[in-house]
Amino acid sequence: MEHPCETAKRLSPDHHRLPQVVRWDDATGSVVILDQTRLPSDLVYRTCVDVQQVWHAIYELAVRGAPAIGIAAAYGVCVAARASLDTVRDRALRATHLLATSRPTAVNLFWALDQMRDVIDKTTADRDLFAALLAQAQAIHQQDRELCAAIGRLGAMRLGQERRLVERGDEPVTILTHCNAGALATGGQGTALSPIYELHGQGRVIRVIADETRPLLQGARLTAWELHHMGVPVTVITDSMAGWIMRLGQVDAVIVGADRIAANGDTANKIGTYSLALLARHHHIPFFVAAPHSTFDMKLLSGDLIPIEQRAADEVRFVFGRLTTPVDCDVLNPAFDVTPAELITAIITDRGVIESPSLSTVAAIIGDR
Ligand code: MRU
Repeated sequence: MEHPCETAKRLSPDHHRLPQVVRWDDATGSVVILDQTRLPSDLVYRTCVDVQQVWHAIYELAVRGAPAIGIAAAYGVCVAARASLDTVRDRALRATHLLATSRPTAVNLFWALDQMRDVIDKTTADRDLFAALLAQAQAIHQQDRELCAAIGRLGAMRLGQERRLVERGDEPVTILTHCNAGALATGGQGTALSPIYELHGQGRVIRVIADETRPLLQGARLTAWELHHMGVPVTVITDSMAGWIMRLGQVDAVIVGADRIAANGDTANKIGTYSLALLARHHHIPFFVAAPHSTFDMKLLSGDLIPIEQRAADEVRFVFGRLTTPVDCDVLNPAFDVTPAELITAIITDRGVIESPSLSTVAAIIGDR
């Protein structure tokens, strides 16, 4: 079924180039969002002409991944501001409040909305406000491209120095990832996948194992799709296979993204990340997190304070429209978990690599963000 604000446009992506996840369309004053709920079978865009549609796109995971959520929200404020000059300030402000309720865990959403609020406060003339907001949203978008590129460069260097990878010599290396922290989740070439693209571009033979990532299958549907299009060999496993694959010696490193990182390095990411970190520790496999500085929440001293999104039970009960549990069966559906810093080998950021994350090592690289 097509969404009401969807352009029924189906395109086939160029090989080695991915479609843009979110963009501003000047002609219609709308935010155009690649609908990730429809991937990998359909390449369909939603054209959001009001802020409610942007809210729904974020809530329903049409646009998802911490940095992309922040970018979409920033453009969402512009959609609201564009409607009428006399109410521009009020509409923009209300849009920031509404969008802040869409998803609670990814801190990039609040980071982007704070910047949009700053613009509202500092732009005194109403007639200048829309242009100032759009410029800020575009700056957030462009900055994210640059942050992803920096993470790619620093991450490729760091991974290249890792003992297990060095020992492989010219042999292929295998990196396991969870959920999707690639181009589909950001304004650029991703966070966790960015060092992989970088190494692949340098000619290093990399094979990626993508956890399918229940319940919404971001690994199988999105990570596998984007790596495949980019020409990086990828193998999908179900989440429960990871431990056994590690035991067989088939994983050289794990790298994941993040939705929010506390000041001590505790990291919230897609549910299942914590179990992977425990498995990696048991098997002496390095476990990396890759994230821009915008994903750090330096106000939170530990991961216990990170709000965890609880999603609808039916996301677990149904698999692609088919009931897979008894109708009224109790289920749990936390969308994220928190991996304690002590299980993380290093956090790769755009500002540098944080080895053995802790309050002091995080502050040394991130400052107060
Ligand atoms: O629920 P999602 O698909 O938005 O969850 C996404 C993740 O957990 C990603 O790993 C995280 O946002 C980092 S994206 C660069």
